[in-house]
Amino acid sequence: MLKESYPYYLASEACYANTNLDVTNKYTGEVATQVAIADADTIDKAIAAAEAAQPAMTAMAPYERQAVLEHCVKRFQERADELAQALCIEAGKPIKDAKGEVSRLIDTFKIAAEESVRINGEVVNLEISAKAKGYQGMTKKVPIGPCSFISPFNFPLNLAAHKVAPAIAAGCTFVLKPASRTPIGALIIGEVLAETALPKGAFSILPCSRDGADLFTTDERLKLLSFTGSPDVGWALKAKAGKKPVVLELGGNAACIVDEDADLDDAIERIIIGAYYQSGQSCISVQRLLVHSAIYDDFKARFVEKVKSLVSGDPSSEDTFIGPMISEGEAERLHDWIIDAEKAGGKILCGGTRDGAMLDATVMEGVPKDCDASAEEAFGPLSVLYSFDSYEEALDEVNNSRYGLQAGVFTRDIYKAHKAWNELDVGGVVIGDVPSWRVDNMPYGGVKDSGLGREGIRYAIEDMSETRLMVLRTPQ
Ligand code: SIN
Repeated sequence: MLKESYPYYLASEACYANTNLDVTNKYTGEVATQVAIADADTIDKAIAAAEAAQPAMTAMAPYERQAVLEHCVKRFQERADELAQALCIEAGKPIKDAKGEVSRLIDTFKIAAEESVRINGEVVNLEISAKAKGYQGMTKKVPIGPCSFISPFNFPLNLAAHKVAPAIAAGCTFVLKPASRTPIGALIIGEVLAETALPKGAFSILPCSRDGADLFTTDERLKLLSFTGSPDVGWALKAKAGKKPVVLELGGNAACIVDEDADLDDAIERIIIGAYYQSGQSCISVQRLLVHSAIYDDFKARFVEKVKSLVSGDPSSEDTFIGPMISEGEAERLHDWIIDAEKAGGKILCGGTRDGAMLDATVMEGVPKDCDASAEEAFGPLSVLYSFDSYEEALDEVNNSRYGLQAGVFTRDIYKAHKAWNELDVGGVVIGDVPSWRVDNMPYGGVKDSGLGREGIRYAIEDMSETRLMVLRTPQ
């Protein structure tokens, strides 16, 4: 159960504020709790505290940072049920998916705890010419400095964790703005961090309105901006970020190829999850399904039958597969795209109706490729079927997108798998599974409009670190 209200965390301390934000239960629409909301002055204080705490954070030994992360792992394990319930209420996430996200949160902190004690440099041989005889180089990694994090609504815990946990491992202080619609997960992370030996001021977690949040992007005391969210917002923030490096984890209209040699039972089972878990609200949800013409009719009949059988309703029930979308407005937006695609010649094979924030799991075919339902990020329970005759044509079609996050390929032919890896213009190619597959140590991120940089703890630690060189001269 949620508490009546939640504080924000300013300079590592819980604070209640005069202004609060209602957080609704996304299934019932009722106000479930309230959180303190930060204004621009508070954000300014948080950044000043992060800057002041950076030397103490830098001075922490790796094993001390590891102890902080291990404490988090233990507390998240102890509070797993409460965390899953919170996600189910604030995000409308079906309870099975919510439990899955909590176990990923624990994985993410475990990986960070392991990585925190193996951040190493290298010895660089500098003797490249006579003038460099007797010179040797050594590098080490140092924290980049205070970081700015903005996390999205669809994984309120784990996508905040993908910023917070590597920052602690790398020795960076930070300020985090969680999504206003789902701030509770991040605030519980704050509650746990406040129990640790992090230096005072090392972290602030501040729900705030977008208007007041400019400092997260523009303030020059912050040395890195890491944003996860929609492409339009992400690229607009980058344009305002000044000198700091920016990591953008944005969206996509992920494609999945089902070639003629695929095991259809297996592929269908995996695609149902990849397209519809947490109502398709994942950046790597299967949206465009490219199926070989030889198996298209068979695939279509069996897939649509399965989609029709998905149980939708109250996300707190263990049987529920399809819960609400994050808001009625988002469900309406995607429903409009479905209707527009139908008007443009597409056919709804199942689903296609909406009740408030509940949108049916929908499958379409024959959708013109330039319709939003195909070309833009659906971020909801929609998949669009296309058939192809040649594998090359299917690969071209995957690349026929302004996005490039991950792609899935069901084939049992190693040469075709290799060709996909070579030719698909995406951040990750998943062979034998859906593009939606992710574990938390893998490099994760996109190309084209899908973003910049990679998360997955080790890769995020690299972004959060500078290389510092020492040159050592031995007089000859
Ligand atoms: C995302 O939606 O960007 C992340 C997907 C995941 O972590 O599984």
